[in-house]
Amino acid sequence: MSKKLFIETLGCAMNVRDSEHMIAELNAHGGYELTDDATQADLILINTCSVRERPVHKLFSELGTFNKLKKFDAKIGVCGCTASHLGKEIIKRAPYVNFVLGARNVSKITDVLHRDKAVEIDIDYDESQFAFKDFRSSPYKAYINISIGCDKQCTFCIVPKTRGDEISIPTDLIISEVRKAVENGAKEVFLLGQNVNNYGRRFSGVHEKINFTELLRRVSEVEGLERIRFTSPHPLHMDDEFIEEFARNPKICKSMHMPLQSGSTEILKAMKRGYTKEWFLNRARKLREMVPDVSISTDIIVAFPGESEEDFEDTLDVMRQVKFEQVFSFKYSPRPMTEAEQFTNMVDSEVGSERLSSLQALQDTILDELSSTLLGREFDVYFEELRSDGYVAGRSGNNVLIKVKGSEEHLGQTARVKITETTRLVQYGEIVA
Ligand code: SAH
Ligand code: F3S
Repeated sequence: MSKKLFIETLGCAMNVRDSEHMIAELNAHGGYELTDDATQADLILINTCSVRERPVHKLFSELGTFNKLKKFDAKIGVCGCTASHLGKEIIKRAPYVNFVLGARNVSKITDVLHRDKAVEIDIDYDESQFAFKDFRSSPYKAYINISIGCDKQCTFCIVPKTRGDEISIPTDLIISEVRKAVENGAKEVFLLGQNVNNYGRRFSGVHEKINFTELLRRVSEVEGLERIRFTSPHPLHMDDEFIEEFARNPKICKSMHMPLQSGSTEILKAMKRGYTKEWFLNRARKLREMVPDVSISTDIIVAFPGESEEDFEDTLDVMRQVKFEQVFSFKYSPRPMTEAEQFTNMVDSEVGSERLSSLQALQDTILDELSSTLLGREFDVYFEELRSDGYVAGRSGNNVLIKVKGSEEHLGQTARVKITETTRLVQYGEIVA
């Protein structure tokens, strides 16, 4: 009888892919069957995120709960960025945890499984970390890593400390992963890295050096592949060549993530983001000019140390000018091992909460305005998900989330859909072709 694995994945798309890698390795070594019932599991894994403080606090209460409800001989492993960041501290605080496996060490999952109290959190690298057995949670869309780690030093961000230096994955390996995914039925690939448009900066061995724009061209040549998405690009590296390829290449979905963080040039400097408000606006303008239908999403941090009312107004100003289709907004959370942790000019927490809600209120009005323009328009939608309410959900190339009445047979298919009802976040429509 095969063993049962319960895995909870928190955080970003890279964690989703890391979880798939661990499932694949565990499957290849003894066969684990996935379960969503932790009480039945022989192995419980939590793949953690440490970008903000709150999920780290939550981890320990969650671990306590798992420890109480698990089968008596089930093992618990803590993986991912909080594992990298806290290491053996986790076993000190929760002694029933069997092993700790960092974000850069997921290839060692079958090894630590047999070493009680193992703590593997090195951020060194070797190429064995790139190639994994196959497992994908969706047959329709394939996540594919193109780089790991991050070389930037944004002063608020813990990721370079948990995921280590930035290494690009060899192009031929990426292309063969794309081919394999397409052979297995995926029509869409999602290229992943902390800083994708810095691709080619450093390889771990001798490999052909190409940049991200060239990588996009090569990926798009894979026959049978219909859609390419990627995350996250960095606004600093959005040169003309990149934006022009994005505009020109029909396989690239017209959806761009442009993490702004702040609209104030002063704050951007303190964050060490490497660009100014004007540069960001210039890049967004060029994108909108070249790709009129593009959807732009962003990440914003409010109440970074030293952020004045005026700085915050600059952020709102960028939001009014760019009219992002999606905003992920966060209140600044001081993180260990980051430069900003030492900053003393903290913004009052209540002021931070007020700024966050007024920013979100502004975004709501922008979204209401944007969604009302969608009524009656038609999009090509790639259906990926069957909902329990008799609908199937999918996205247009420019990332509009659309639901239509449908069934399993729509999954993995693209159809032309006319929007018949709009809401702030999801649009409803009917298939016209
Ligand atoms: N390289 C990724 C960043 C990963 S972290 C990217 O560019 O998208 C994801 C987001 O979390 C960041 O873009 C930032 O907006 C937010 N974030 C990171 N550190 C944070 C902190 N200390 N406090 C609040 N938000 C933070
Ligand atoms: Fe973090 Fe900045 Fe890299 S946000 S992941 S250090 S680009």
